[in-house]
Amino acid sequence: MKNHEYLHGYSKKEGLRLNNQAATLEDLIHYDSIFPRHGLVLEAGCGVGAQTKIIASKNPDSCFISIDISQDSITEAERVIRFLGISNVEFKQADICKLPFRDGMFDCVIICFVLEHLQNPLQALTELKRVLRKGGTMMVIEGDHGSTFFYPDSNYAYLSINCQIQLQKQSGGNANIGRELYLLLNTLNLSNLSISPRIVYVDSSKPQLVEGFIKNTFISMIEGVKEKAIQKGIIDNLTFEKGINDLYRTTQSDGIFCYTFFKGCGIKK
Ligand SMILES: C[S@@+](CC[C@H](N)C(=O)[O-])C[C@H]1O[C@@H](n2cnc3c(N)ncnc32)[C@H](O)[C@@H]1O
Repeated sequence: MKNHEYLHGYSKKEGLRLNNQAATLEDLIHYDSIFPRHGLVLEAGCGVGAQTKIIASKNPDSCFISIDISQDSITEAERVIRFLGISNVEFKQADICKLPFRDGMFDCVIICFVLEHLQNPLQALTELKRVLRKGGTMMVIEGDHGSTFFYPDSNYAYLSINCQIQLQKQSGGNANIGRELYLLLNTLNLSNLSISPRIVYVDSSKPQLVEGFIKNTFISMIEGVKEKAIQKGIIDNLTFEKGINDLYRTTQSDGIFCYTFFKGCGIKK
């Protein structure tokens, strides 16, 4: 990520989208985000606290330190966590690639939807491994936009999604990083390494996912890059709008939408 510029932006709208995404995917992503009692957990790249409130409430006997490079996000995350009365989280502004913590300080490390934005995800993971104790668990969760398919099929929709992928690439990230988690985590030489695909399948029999995932998480993210994609000449307005219309078309009674997240877990030797 260049100059800490974060493609999805730090806007209120993006904060809402992250909260929506986390709430919609809570069971799928975090049913097994269970940490040791009295363990110290580092959440890296906590953003506005969308995952923090889920994992901290789920593990009331663990202590969390949640960090982010953006002070604005930290301030918002702290406000939300205090408002909810959650008391097992401390926040700190810090860069994942240069953590202000001693070697082996944490029992677990969790990082969710962050590596996709970094120019050097392996550097970040290596730093996270440094602060993890031997025998401690690393959990990494990422999406992969190339895993998206839907009915009715539409080349226009793929062209709109591709704008997000191209823009993320231009700012040094990788929107298709999910498929690389195995390679990245294997390079860290962890034991018990496992990657589990978490498939979100949505049809009209699941109206909560139609709203929460297709519309308010996925389409909202793609819509958010419209201006920048047109400005950079990646697409023209009409093609982009046709793509967005076709994505909305998948939310009708005969439509389906499928996306795969990847969760990697391993133990430091
Ligand atoms: C897509 S958001 C995800 C936030 C949160 N994990 C969630 O799932 O809702 C990515 C977050 O990573 C943070 N980030 C990016 N680069 C970082 C770095 N080098 N160090 C710490 N945080 C970073 C951004 O500020 C942003 O809050």
